[in-house]
Amino acid sequence: MLENQQNIFLEKLILSTEQKEFVKLVLSKKRDKNSDLNKITVLPVQLKEGFRLSFVYNYQTKDITKNYTESEALDLIKTEIETRFLNADLFTVSENVQLFGNPKGNFGIKISEPLFKEIKPLSHDKLKKQWIATENNLYLRELGITNAAGEIRPGMHDKFRQINKYIEVVSGLIDENRFAENVKIADMGSGKGYLTFALYDFLSKNTKLKPVISGIEFRQDLVDFCNKTAQKAKFDKLDFVQGTIENSVFENINILIALHACDTATDDAIAKGIKSGASLIIVAPCCHKQIRKQFNVTNDLASVLKHGILKERQAELITDGIRALILEAHGYKTKVFEFISTEHTPKNVMIVAEKSDKNSNNAEILSKIKAIKNFFGIEYHYLENLLDIRHKI
Ligand SMILES: C[S@@+](CC[C@H](N)C(=O)[O-])C[C@H]1O[C@@H](n2cnc3c(N)ncnc32)[C@H](O)[C@@H]1O
Repeated sequence: MLENQQNIFLEKLILSTEQKEFVKLVLSKKRDKNSDLNKITVLPVQLKEGFRLSFVYNYQTKDITKNYTESEALDLIKTEIETRFLNADLFTVSENVQLFGNPKGNFGIKISEPLFKEIKPLSHDKLKKQWIATENNLYLRELGITNAAGEIRPGMHDKFRQINKYIEVVSGLIDENRFAENVKIADMGSGKGYLTFALYDFLSKNTKLKPVISGIEFRQDLVDFCNKTAQKAKFDKLDFVQGTIENSVFENINILIALHACDTATDDAIAKGIKSGASLIIVAPCCHKQIRKQFNVTNDLASVLKHGILKERQAELITDGIRALILEAHGYKTKVFEFISTEHTPKNVMIVAEKSDKNSNNAEILSKIKAIKNFFGIEYHYLENLLDIRHKI
């Protein structure tokens, strides 16, 4: 049963939504001190499917966002006020309404001048950015991206933008219905783990998946740091293993990721992904050296490739192009695209390969690779050796 003041508060809330004056609602002062849920913030949001109220559930170590229609949201808020929270702050464009209660069940209401003059529904994109919440985000703090107050530290905005963009891109690639709940993901050359942590965080909170993620990293200090941070964040199914990509032993990987693994380390990762039958392979190559060293162009293009920078770019293009073709020859559908603006990082090309049911015309693809190699005087692409197909092309 609601107290009189609680009812008055709810009437004001309903009126604010009917009159399109609702700006924001915050539920706080939890009744159960041991509860993991600290507060709920409700904001208007404009989604593709229409206007919704977005609930950000703020837990001790994470934020979870859920969107509801207006009528669902009003029912939920009523229940929350009745059962879990003693305080509620309603912000509308005409007034602020504060409901405050004590554990004995006495409630008061205070009305004050409006803090907000206009309503700014979040766009779908803004909402996505909230999926990696900065508030109470332990790993972002440990990684030095945020300060103790949960604000992005000076100089870390680009990194945070990159993390968000990565999640936006990868979330579009991981169709949660295609993977088993305990999808197994390997992140090869995980480094300090920025993207590994964000992916685990995002998938666990925003999809029905319960991912099992392993980062493979050569540097023991980074592995120790990441494992410690994963424990602190209570990311139970995220671990980091010291080792090289080429010698790592992983079976039944569903998704293989290798971002900015230098030179042929990307090929090692792709080969591991193909051999373990990964359904999705995502790589962002960098430091392409192997093919550049072999370039021996004697045709008309030689006059263009005499310029170092053009030779370098051409070698990158051919290296990644052949990678994509080799993946296609192994039954994958591929996409190559820029995943983040060069303003944030020059290492921005992503190769995505999705295992396809359709049979690819192997012989035709291999003959195309052969023609390209001949044109550029390339003896071999490192990935051919790893997959034992050199004798075929
Ligand atoms: C440029 S960092 C990228 C880190 C992370 N993937 C990212 O994109 O933020 C590359 C990392 O891969 C590791 N690495 C490079 N080659 C490797 C190999 N063959 N085996 C394991 N780790 C490797 C390096 O130690 C480094 O930490």
